[in-house]
Amino acid sequence: MEERVPMHAILGNEMLSVSSEPDLIAVRNKARLHARAAGFGLTDETKLVTAVSELARNMISHGGGGQALIEDLEQNGRQGIRVTFTDRGPGIANIGQAMQDGYSSINGLGLGLPGARRLVHDFEIKSSAKEGTHIVIVRWNRC
Ligand SMILES: Nc1ncnc2c1ncn2[C@@H]1O[C@H](COP(=O)(O)OP(=O)(O)OP(=O)(O)O)[C@@H](O)[C@H]1O
Ligand SMILES: [Mg+2]
Repeated sequence: MEERVPMHAILGNEMLSVSSEPDLIAVRNKARLHARAAGFGLTDETKLVTAVSELARNMISHGGGGQALIEDLEQNGRQGIRVTFTDRGPGIANIGQAMQDGYSSINGLGLGLPGARRLVHDFEIKSSAKEGTHIVIVRWNRC
């Protein structure tokens, strides 16, 4: 069997439940602290926190609340933050449409998902009516 070299190490993690406005503030603040601890500059920190804020808000407004797992990553001496958002809401029927700038089912701006994608280095989305919505983002420290 092929031996696989691990892609990264996970240095720490924190799980938060996100279902209210105070939870949204808490997850933003936690993401900021993790970014700073990973040595992010202000621009990288702000990009990560903005993406986290949009995706956490979506879990509250569209997904009926959920969980955010923040993980501190290390790969070849570089640090990054991965955040996994999981909800058990109704799911997104058409992901391609939801990822387009300006699409919103609630008359919002429709910029949360596509904006978040542009603010991070990796973005994975899985969604179904049965399993809800699962989004993983990673932003690496630029230095
Ligand atoms: N966690 C989720 N569960 C179910 N549907 C979602 C979820 N996140 C996003 N969606 C769907 O994808 C659409 C696009 O999301 P997006 O964040 O881009 O826009 P929005 O939330 O409608 O408006 P805003 O620009 O204020 O964020 C939403 O309108 C909603 O239909
Ligand atoms: Mg949104």
